[in-house]
Amino acid sequence: MEQIIQWSDDLSVGVPEIDKQHKKLVDILNRYYTEIKNKEDDKETIDRFLNELSDYMRDHLDYEEKFLAIIGYPELEQHKKVHRMFMNMYSKEIERARNGDKKALRELVSFTLSWLYTHIAKTDKKYAKFLQEKAVTTV
Ligand SMILES: [Fe+2]
Repeated sequence: MEQIIQWSDDLSVGVPEIDKQHKKLVDILNRYYTEIKNKEDDKETIDRFLNELSDYMRDHLDYEEKFLAIIGYPELEQHKKVHRMFMNMYSKEIERARNGDKKALRELVSFTLSWLYTHIAKTDKKYAKFLQEKAVTTV
C-alpha cells in the first residue's frame, strides 16, 4: 500500500502497544487516500470504512485511558476531557458521513489527520514524558 502518511519516530510515545495502535491509525488514513477516496459513491465501502474508524477510535481511546489510569498519570482527567470533546465532534461527523454526506467524510479524514499531528504528536507526548521520568514502559 502506498504510504501517503508516514509514521515517524516523532510520533512514538515509547509504549509499544500504544505505538502499534497509533500506527494502525496511520494505516487507516493511508487506506482512505489510496482506496476509499475514489469510492465515495460506494456506500458499502464507505460504511465499512466508517465502522472501522469509529470502532478504532473508541477502542483506542478506551485503551489509552485505562493505561493512563494504571500508570497513575496525574493529568488523566484533563486528557480524558480532550478525548471526550474530540469524540463528541467525531461521532457527529461519522453520523453525517453515514448518511451520505461526502463533505462530512472528508472533514472526518482531516480531523483524523490533525488528531495525529496535534493530539498524538503533542498531547500524548506529555504522558510519554511522564513515563520516561517514571521509566515504566509496560504494565
Ligand atoms: Fe490521547
